Parts: sequence; structure tokens; C-alpha cells
Amino acid sequence: MFTWWADGSEKAGLDALQALFKEKYPNNTFVNLAVAGGAGTNAKAKLAADLQNGNPPDSFQGHAGAELQDYIRADQIEPVNDVIDTLGGAQVFPQNLLDLLTVDGSIYSVPSNIHRANVVWTNPAVLKKANITAEPADIDAWLADMAKLKSAGVATPLTIGGTWTQVQLFETVLIADLGVDGYIALFKEGADWGSAGVKKAVEHYTKLLSYANTASDGDDWPGAIDAAIGGKAAYNVMGDWAVAEFAAKNKKDGVDYQYFPVPGTKGVFDFLADSFTLPKGAKNPGGAKDWLSLIGSPEGQKAFNLAKGSIPARTDVPASDFPPYQQSAMASFKADKIAPSIAHGAAVSLAWNSDISTAISKFYASKDQATLVTDLVAAAKKNLA
Ligand code: GAL
Repeated sequence: MFTWWADGSEKAGLDALQALFKEKYPNNTFVNLAVAGGAGTNAKAKLAADLQNGNPPDSFQGHAGAELQDYIRADQIEPVNDVIDTLGGAQVFPQNLLDLLTVDGSIYSVPSNIHRANVVWTNPAVLKKANITAEPADIDAWLADMAKLKSAGVATPLTIGGTWTQVQLFETVLIADLGVDGYIALFKEGADWGSAGVKKAVEHYTKLLSYANTASDGDDWPGAIDAAIGGKAAYNVMGDWAVAEFAAKNKKDGVDYQYFPVPGTKGVFDFLADSFTLPKGAKNPGGAKDWLSLIGSPEGQKAFNLAKGSIPARTDVPASDFPPYQQSAMASFKADKIAPSIAHGAAVSLAWNSDISTAISKFYASKDQATLVTDLVAAAKKNLA
């Protein structure tokens, strides 16, 4: 079983599933092939090589949407309609999610969860130093709060990690400045990555970085959230796997930490879903299907998502079984407009993600806004071709 949930709070989610799997399917042996590195930074290369060399795991973690389509197009995964049907199909999984897993009527994976990427996590004790109590309405108001924090002696208002966390921050600013429809249009034929809206987002993003810590390409996400948890910083934009990190550190929702959608993205749920596959040539397809059946069951979804910070992909797991953060995410997922995440495989293919990441990493060093826009335009042209 291949994932990138190798340590820390991410491993807790996988451990919860593994324990349940052992209980429900005692005749199977669970082999944990996790490769460390948030967002699959290291895992994806290893997985690509294993698939290429005809040495697939029995199941691997992928993202619903464009990333999964990559594996389907490369003929590397099998349909699992039988598993999805047995689990209850469209009666229990949202149709718009199933659509992201389907090509020509074949469904290619079982979703374990839904994560939200456009969340600001704050430390109220740090905000208090600058008397900030209200949620900023837009990016400009948020930048003004960061200036206040600086004046109040908070050296690092915002934290970032390595490149993928920067891509994720940037995508949320794109949503804020383009609106959800403008953002979604970026991934379709005729996309205009050179528009005034994208330029505005790049300008906002540059200003946000001026309030952030210095990061190296490979810095992972726990360091960035831990700085906010520990009172060294005020804000971190992170997917809601951050909830598991707060839980691991015994922090209390509303007391030790608060959260709100990235300013300007209220009413938008920047979405990604982990989903599990049956690779072509898996050596133990029966065991893999047991695993997929567990992941997709109400019990599996509850055990996993309680530990992971995400919400169930199934719609029939009661919200009341979850703590307040997940309850709020469940309500938002139902009510909000849905935007696909760039950094986590929903909006763009692996290749396009890699081109955007290269541009963002280059920009981190140069801060050359015009070049970033040119690189983004070129990446879209190449990958939409
Ligand atoms: C995402 C993944 C999440 C979480 C995150 C940080 O790509 O979908 O479940 O693991 O990376 O590693």
C-alpha cells in the first residue's frame, strides 16, 4: 500500500485504517510502502518509476481529477466499478466526485476523503499582540493585518514551507482575485494566464511572501504550521490535514487555534480528494480490493477522516461523529462553490503541476513578477495543447 503518509500526524490517519483493515481482513498482510514528503513530493517520482518498471504496489494514493486521469491515460490502473457499486455507488458518493474518477463509464479509484486547501490557520494569542480580532475580508485587508503584526513586533506574520506549499498559497490567491469561475477557466481551452486578474494575484502573492519566513524548496508543511502553533507566527495557509497536527499537539479548536477561508475565498471550497487505485499488474488484486472496500465503507471513512482532518467522501457518515472543524468543512462542502486544487492534482496533470511548481520555485528566488506570468502562460500553452 503506497502513500506519502509516512510520519507525524499524516501517519496517524493511515494507522487508523491499517488497524481496522487488520481487524476486518485478518487474512491479508498490510505492507506499508509509504514514502515521506508532504503532497507526495518524493513519493510521486518513486511511484512513477515503479509503475514504469512493471513493479506496481497493490494500491496507491492518487488525487481525484486531472492527476488520476494521467494514470488512466497511461493505462496504469484498472476500473473498480464493482467495488464502488458494492459500496453504494452514486447513492453514497457525490456524483461530481465520481465524475472526477470516471472515464467512459469506468470508475478508476475509491475516494477516501475530501480535503480543503484554502484555509488560514491562526494563533489567536499572536493576533492579540496587534489587537486583531476580525477576519479580513480580502487579501488587501489581510496584508494590512500583517503590517500591523509586524509593527507589533511579530517578525513572521505568515509562514510558508517548500515549493508545493507556495503553489498551494498561490492557487488560493488566484481564487481570491479571479473568483471561482475565472479560476476554473484557467484549466480550460482558451485559458488566459496573462490576464489582469492573474497579474493582480501575482502582485498580491509577492506582497504576502514579503511577510513570510525564508523557505527552502524541500521544507515540509509541519514546520510551517508548527511555527504558528508555537506562537512564532500568526498565520499559515495549509490544507486541513493541519487539523491532525493540532490534535497531535493537544491544541484546542477556538482556544489555541482558529481558522477561516483565505480572505477573498469565502464561499469557495478549494477541493482535493485522495483516492486509492488498483494498479494494472498488481500482484494481489484480491487484497487490494479488500483494502478499497474498507476505505470506501462508512466505518473506514469515519476512522480515517477522524484522524486525518479531512471529511468523508461518502455523504452518509453523520457529521455529528466529527469535531467542530470537520463539521464546518462538511457544511461548506455542501454549500460552497467547488474549486479544484492545483497543488494537489485536482485541476492539473502531474506534468502541468510540475511546470507550475518550477515557475513558482524560480519566482521565489527572483521575485520577478513579469517572468512568473510569462512562465505560467507558457505552462498553460504547453499543457493545454
Ligand atoms: C496532499 C494529500 C493530503 C495530504 C497532503 C500533505 O496531496 O492529498 O492527504 O497528505 O498532501 O502531505
